[in-house]
Amino acid sequence: MEQSQLTDLLGQMTLDEKIGQLLQITGDFYSDKAEERTGPMTQLGLDEDDLANAGTVLGVTGAEECRKIQTAYMKRNRLHIPTLFMGDVIHGFRTIFPIPLGLASSWDESAAETMARVSAHEASVSGLFVTFSPMVDLVRDARWGRVMESTGEDPYLNGKLAAAMVHGYQGDDLLADTTRVAACVKHFAAYGAAVAGRDYNTVDMSERQLRDMYLPGYKTAIDAGAKLVMTSFNTVDGVPASGNRHLFRDILRREWGFDGVVISDFGAVKEMISHGVAADERDAAKLAIKAGVDIEMMTVCYLRHLKDLIVSGEVPEQVLDESVMRILELKNDLGLFENPLRGADAEAERTVVMSKQHRDAARRVAEESMVLLKNDDATLPLDASRKIALLGPAAKSTDLLGAWSWKGQEDDVAALDVSLREAGIQVSTVDGDFDYLQPSDQAVEEAVRVAKDADVVVLALGEPSYMSGEASSRSDIRLPQAQLDLFKAVAAVNDRIIVTLFNGRPLDLSDIQSAKAIVEAWFPGTEGGRALADVLTGAVNPSAKLTMSFPVSVGQVPIYYNVDNTGRPYENDPEGKYVSKYLDVSNYAAYPFGFGLSYSKFEYGEVKVEDHEFDADNPLKVSVELRNVSEREGTEIVQCYVHDLVGEVVRPIKQLKGYERVTLAAGESRTVTFTITEEDVRYVHADYELDSDPGDFDVMVGPNSRDLSKAVRVHLF
Ligand code: NOJ
Repeated sequence: MEQSQLTDLLGQMTLDEKIGQLLQITGDFYSDKAEERTGPMTQLGLDEDDLANAGTVLGVTGAEECRKIQTAYMKRNRLHIPTLFMGDVIHGFRTIFPIPLGLASSWDESAAETMARVSAHEASVSGLFVTFSPMVDLVRDARWGRVMESTGEDPYLNGKLAAAMVHGYQGDDLLADTTRVAACVKHFAAYGAAVAGRDYNTVDMSERQLRDMYLPGYKTAIDAGAKLVMTSFNTVDGVPASGNRHLFRDILRREWGFDGVVISDFGAVKEMISHGVAADERDAAKLAIKAGVDIEMMTVCYLRHLKDLIVSGEVPEQVLDESVMRILELKNDLGLFENPLRGADAEAERTVVMSKQHRDAARRVAEESMVLLKNDDATLPLDASRKIALLGPAAKSTDLLGAWSWKGQEDDVAALDVSLREAGIQVSTVDGDFDYLQPSDQAVEEAVRVAKDADVVVLALGEPSYMSGEASSRSDIRLPQAQLDLFKAVAAVNDRIIVTLFNGRPLDLSDIQSAKAIVEAWFPGTEGGRALADVLTGAVNPSAKLTMSFPVSVGQVPIYYNVDNTGRPYENDPEGKYVSKYLDVSNYAAYPFGFGLSYSKFEYGEVKVEDHEFDADNPLKVSVELRNVSEREGTEIVQCYVHDLVGEVVRPIKQLKGYERVTLAAGESRTVTFTITEEDVRYVHADYELDSDPGDFDVMVGPNSRDLSKAVRVHLF
């Protein structure tokens, strides 16, 4: 449709029809069984006219189901405007990839793009037009259950991965390519900074910090073309995001020029009453529409009160028209006026969803996402000639998909025991199930007996998936006590323990440090069991590195590598009394940002710069020679960090400015080069302007944020 036709269409709409466009409800409301509709309709107080006007639908899939709903809907809608199906396809549709925190550990933008591309294809043939991904919330607090949905603690890496996902979802031509879906960046803004890691809790930070650290990830995803933005549940500077004009009108729309659709999170408009910034639904509607929220998800403040607010002159009709136009434009950008079912195709659904190609892609990405945290005495890879026991709650578990895997099915998953046997490794296990939290005494005794008899024990531990994700914060981020007890009991009879972990957050692993090897496998998705088996056998050489610090103790949380300088730096004198530190634990992470081992061994040469000076026209060229000094091919993620020595405001002690995945054959070496521009060292100044400070900088290169090269001093003019 031409823009002029959209304008005509808007002109023909009644006030009720326009307001209807702003409502998002779930698919239950369109069930063809009247009895299934009645409950939800009564609950929200909706009538048939409301359903005929509601602009978008949440959480329906299936080509046939979507076709039925769309066909009926367009008949009932007076102007035959199609509805729009949205849903949460977060790390895969039915073929599930690793949770985003795992995916991010690959530091591989092409892996992120592949995940999104496969997800889009499966989702689009199944009738979806929009996915609520990528989630770009910067996270520093492992207590927060939703860290699993994030890509970690670094704004630069988060932005790169988010942009890759947006491209994977939307492709280059969303209109023409119906195997793609529109992406929705969330949760704007700073949802990851909930105080004390408690979900939905207050976020309180300076505007400068917000702009410097938390907003860049979202901005990069928006610059990559994401069509929608979702509000967050939290407050920012005392104002809930869904009513925060400053966030949406000033920053998102005016400063960044975003002209796509803003959707509230589930129920977040009405929640402004609970927050205590709106007296009632009318007030909440007024705050949200004025803030620039176009679609209200699953509550009816707009539907009930917007008309009155417009008639009374409290909200100009122009504001409503702008929102409606953005929604119509999104429908038009997706080609729905001409093709209201878009890519939905029941036949393709059968061949595309969970195709071999998609499963293979999920397996490759899972392989790239598993982090080898420890490997003393080269305990891994497994020696197939030894007697191997596979024990623990995750040994036979198919709970590998993660908390946000909606259409994923555990039946599709090969558990670790099955996968190891498929890979030709004979393992002894115990009969029956082994509970994550409360295993029977008999199961534990049996495990200890099998462990005693083995040369090496693979102890498969972790969190059940419900322990991370939304509304799943934890104050104790150790493994469940029963698993620590199991570890202790097994260690008493066999000290050759390899721990594998399926979980959704950085954990405090201090109690299992005596393990010879630890593999962090996250929730690795449909093919995750096989991917982990390949890492254990050595068929795959691990290459992943953490994107979120693992603390020594929960007391260090929030912990992150890019901390600001203090006036009493711990680094200068960790033993000193009057330095910024704890009495009972070091400041450092157990496993820092960027950390991960390989079965290969890499050595770094001296860091060199082409010229010690740089300016806006002449970037800095930093290089280092990387050598694979082992006998097997491997991939190293080389990382480049910069420290701005004197800033207008206090600067972090280091910040990631470049990274590269480098695969080297045994004995091979290669020079890895990073280009750092003046723009790369800009940051948000006290006046909120993005600028750099001329002066000295230190540049460091290395395998993780802790074990870096000696700093090379350079100067920016
Ligand atoms: C609530 C979650 O916060 C959000 O991430 C999700 O997209 C919506 N529900 C819709 O399911």
